[in-house]
Amino acid sequence: MNLCKKKTKIYFNDEAYCILNNYLVNQEYDQKNVFILVDDITYKHCFPIILSHVKFLNKSRIIKIRTGEKEKNIYTCIKICKFLEKFKATRKSLIINVGGGVITDIGGFVASIFKRGIPFINIPTTLLGMVDASIGYKTGVNLDSIKNEIGTFHIPELLIIDSLFLNTLSRIEIISGIAEMLKHGLIADKNFWIYINKFKVKIMEKNKEISDELIKKSIFIKNRIVTQDPKEKGLRKILNFGHTIGHALESYFMNKNTNTIKKEKILHGIAVAYGMIYESWISHKINGLPMVDYKEIQYSISSFYPKKKYVLSSLDVEKLFMIMEHDKKNEKNNIIFSLINRIGECSYNCEVPFSLIKESLLKCEF
Ligand SMILES: NC(=O)c1ccc[n+]([C@@H]2O[C@H](COP(=O)([O-])OP(=O)(O)OC[C@H]3O[C@@H](n4cnc5c(N)ncnc54)[C@H](O)[C@@H]3O)[C@@H](O)[C@H]2O)c1
Ligand SMILES: [Zn+2]
Repeated sequence: MNLCKKKTKIYFNDEAYCILNNYLVNQEYDQKNVFILVDDITYKHCFPIILSHVKFLNKSRIIKIRTGEKEKNIYTCIKICKFLEKFKATRKSLIINVGGGVITDIGGFVASIFKRGIPFINIPTTLLGMVDASIGYKTGVNLDSIKNEIGTFHIPELLIIDSLFLNTLSRIEIISGIAEMLKHGLIADKNFWIYINKFKVKIMEKNKEISDELIKKSIFIKNRIVTQDPKEKGLRKILNFGHTIGHALESYFMNKNTNTIKKEKILHGIAVAYGMIYESWISHKINGLPMVDYKEIQYSISSFYPKKKYVLSSLDVEKLFMIMEHDKKNEKNNIIFSLINRIGECSYNCEVPFSLIKESLLKCEF
């Protein structure tokens, strides 16, 4: 599939439901040939909202999985494929993913492999899903504790954004999504960084203050980057800022068998927020990020996020390093980072020595 030729069609709120209604009619879908992937929670909170706008879906088949990252594995995908097979899905069937990044990643992946690819639509219901996971063609699942090790690129037919879903989302999930928005400002748009920081107090007081404007601006930044470089040959790598260390923290704290410290699961966005502080420090050391920018980033992230609850030992750092060695971005045994030069500008393919990674993990305080 030529990703450059086909662009994601993104629609917001009421207009989005109109477009979806028209799409389902124009494509002549049979109701029973439309499969809706949800988890327990999105089935309860989000699916009824969609149904109130899109009556067509009331006879569609619901594929309900348990909520959570634990479900994001190949076995869940096999179960979904068996369900599709059982209900005679064909290449002309449609999957509609209703949920956070876990659901859009799993559903997109299944859509890309079932009968060598069927169409799908993303209706993200978490902030992180809206501004990040559902945009950019990447689908996939984890392999044991290695994040997103198995995956494909597959483009949704439509991306439907409705900020109303955020009303039922927990506070911690909201701030998890904010990390990716902050990242978009840090890597590509200083004005957006200033803009989102201006709303900090309001955002911290009420979920509702994640305005449509903030969501739209953030989506457009990510979409602009991925359309220029869909398969991550170059520019797109800047989206990995904060993720080399962030993903390692997320995986490390997810896996209880490697205990050296008391482990408490860290959400993706929060791991990335912490990752951005560590990687800004590395950026300061080797990529010319001015100290004042580092301090601004550290201050901003610390005021959005809870203080970290762990203290890493040298042994933890070695284990984190081993996880980073599996990172898909690495080349020729070197750990490769995307690092910022200043707020709003990012470089990619930066080799960072182990000693500096270790120093950042042991020294950064927040
Ligand atoms: N494909 C990509 O480019 C990409 C990018 C970033 C992240 N991701 C992936 O996204 C995943 C994280 O996504 P997430 O943070 O959305 O997690 P998630 O999908 O697990 O959702 C978080 C929780 O919120 C619940 N939920 C969802 N919508 C809700 C709503 N409207 N109201 C109440 N509860 C709701 C879910 O049931 C779940 O319990 C990770 O697996 C990550 O790897 C993928
Ligand atoms: Zn992320």
